[in-house]
Amino acid sequence: MKKFSVVIAGGGSTFTPGIVMMMLDNLDRFPLRTLKLYDNDGDRQGILGEALEILLKEQAPEIDFLYTTDPEVAFTDVDFCMAHIRVGKYAMREKDEKVPLRHGVFGQETCGPGGIAYGMRSITGMLEIIDYMEKYSPDCWMLNYSNPAAIVAEACRVLRPSSKVLNICDMPVGTLRRMSQIVGKTPEELEVRYFGLNHFGWWTSVKDKEGHEYIDQIREYVSENGYLTQIEVDTQHTDPSWQETHKKAKDIIAVAPEYLPNTYLKYYLYPDYVFEHMQGHPEFTRANEVMQGREKNVFDHAREIIKNGSAKGIAFDIDSHATFIVDLARAIAFNTHERMVMIVENNGAIANFPDDAMVEVPCIVGTDGPEALTQGQIPAFQQALMFQQVTVEKLVVEAYVENSYQKMWQALTLSKTVPSAQIAKELLDDLIIENGEYWPELR
Ligand code: NAD
Ligand code: G6P
Ligand code: MN
Repeated sequence: MKKFSVVIAGGGSTFTPGIVMMMLDNLDRFPLRTLKLYDNDGDRQGILGEALEILLKEQAPEIDFLYTTDPEVAFTDVDFCMAHIRVGKYAMREKDEKVPLRHGVFGQETCGPGGIAYGMRSITGMLEIIDYMEKYSPDCWMLNYSNPAAIVAEACRVLRPSSKVLNICDMPVGTLRRMSQIVGKTPEELEVRYFGLNHFGWWTSVKDKEGHEYIDQIREYVSENGYLTQIEVDTQHTDPSWQETHKKAKDIIAVAPEYLPNTYLKYYLYPDYVFEHMQGHPEFTRANEVMQGREKNVFDHAREIIKNGSAKGIAFDIDSHATFIVDLARAIAFNTHERMVMIVENNGAIANFPDDAMVEVPCIVGTDGPEALTQGQIPAFQQALMFQQVTVEKLVVEAYVENSYQKMWQALTLSKTVPSAQIAKELLDDLIIENGEYWPELR
């Protein structure tokens, strides 16, 4: 089997070790000849890089491994770039979550004003790595899950329309794992129909390969328990705040009971609840939970490996939930026609929705990339919510391209999470100060 050369952009990410371990676990399906880490923060990446170098020497010495901040070294001779950058890192995630609170609005990584602020920062970083990839390895594909994926995907559509960038989110994967447990199946045995935007969608069907439909059984379960399951099958989303989110799906489904909702809809349907909940601990948001949890654990672990000069007995956890990234790479490399929920240009996949919207739908993925499966007409309730949200995402990208204060104000005003144009303006002025040089100048 062909062996691949992969670069992970955002090598210093909290997810890097888990994904590297997952790739080692999948070498029989996706063999590696070279693995590189690239980050623009050499100190942060250096800790994970040094630890992984030790680990790989012990566990997979046949793979050429290096970590670098030099784009030419990183992006030369690579087949796939797995991208998970966070422009501004956790310090800025904390601001995305806390700045809106000052204005009576909840703060979140990808939804509402926090997501809008993060989007404005991410576009520059994403364009930078796409351009490096195309300069040094024009045939390379980028498998991107850097957030906010909806805004990033729209920016790619507008600014890099012919680049080989595939945008994907793990929430449909994680939630399908929960559904599979609810009905006593494995996720591989189930096939879904789904429509929406990233972090804003609904499942309309969950069937096994024989065609048996489980959606009514799962709807009934979710109406009572949300997506809370007995055993953690969705290993990515287990912290207390995530449990709360899975449970809240019960109230989301109550509003539109015909379909199964994405958990992120809680931010749009219950923004007052989320705000009030955050008011209980305004100094301790999800960013703090991650910094004290996942980030600390991963970096402590790496330091221990470095100290011992060996990873024996202290290997990183395998992020088995991330195998969809290997499935996606294999789909491109081996034309497997894997069916995956991805973020793509609509072009009729959702019949009553604009062609040029970046939507999230099931696709068949082969050597030329994803081909969207048509999902037909959607009901007015979901269509109207989606139209409002997709316009927010488009306005953010337009604001970025045109350096337009006006469009950014409109984006925040239109967000279902912001109560008025007045609050949107106050928020915008605050976000401009807090994001400083990370944002383009708005005039
Ligand atoms: P993190 O802050 O730990 O890691 C991000 C890394 O990116 C940092 O080391 C940072 O220095 C680096 N970086 C920032 N700008 C860069 C640039 N221009 N070039 C190169 N490197 C750059 O963040 P994390 O929590 O591990 O998450 C990483 C990303 O993955 C985030 O965007 C997160 O939202 C995303 N994510 C997405 C999904 C999904 O479903 N799409 C799932 C999990 C995580
Ligand atoms: C889910 C979403 C991602 C998001 C992540 C946040 O996986 O699909 O888009 O980045 O959750 O997780 P965290 O543990 O960092 O809050
Ligand atoms: Mn996501």
